[in-house]
Amino acid sequence: MNNPECIIIQTFITNIKKLIMAKTSNTKKTTSKKSANSKSNGRMGAGANDSMLQDFFVDELKDIYWAEKHLVKTLPKMMKAATSPELKAAFQDHVEVTKTHVTRLEQVFEAMGKKAQAKKCEAMEGITKEGESIIEDTEDGTATRDVGLILAAQKVEHYEISTYGGLHQLAITLGHDAVADLLEQTLAEEKEADSLLTEIAENNVNYEAAGEEEQK
Ligand SMILES: [Fe+2]
Ligand SMILES: [Fe+2]
Repeated sequence: MNNPECIIIQTFITNIKKLIMAKTSNTKKTTSKKSANSKSNGRMGAGANDSMLQDFFVDELKDIYWAEKHLVKTLPKMMKAATSPELKAAFQDHVEVTKTHVTRLEQVFEAMGKKAQAKKCEAMEGITKEGESIIEDTEDGTATRDVGLILAAQKVEHYEISTYGGLHQLAITLGHDAVADLLEQTLAEEKEADSLLTEIAENNVNYEAAGEEEQK
């Protein structure tokens, strides 16, 4: 793999990637200039601080802020209910990551000159309730319960991924670049958590649970 031809090809590919990235960043700069110009034409753009979209954006931030704070309380219950050491560790790790998400959202509110406020997120409450009923309906110490916990946890992650994905785009539209960066960091961590859960399910837990079914 490290022969001279391979190195030349790899260098060529890296240079092409750099060229594409440079082009993309130029396009982004042009787009944000256009967006700033469109403001003077009375259209939505950077700094539209009193628009309906801005209000909607802040409202959605309150919603995910409540959801993250709620998860700080509910994820430890899922961690305790899990049997697989990998799954327990994944939950434990994500409790810490989720605390960072709460802090990051507080930074987002601050960056926007708003007070950090939580507004009850009915969707997240429903998803976490489903997780609790999975714990009630399955036996302690079984891989079947772990499968259920992974399923519930992935529903949580997918809700967060879609929320942060949408909010990140809105932050760009509204011209809140620093906020967009913060939301993008959290989005990446939610995606990471989701992939880890898939890995745990596919590598171990699902097969163990299938074995449990066969014993019945
Ligand atoms: Fe989160
Ligand atoms: Fe998460």
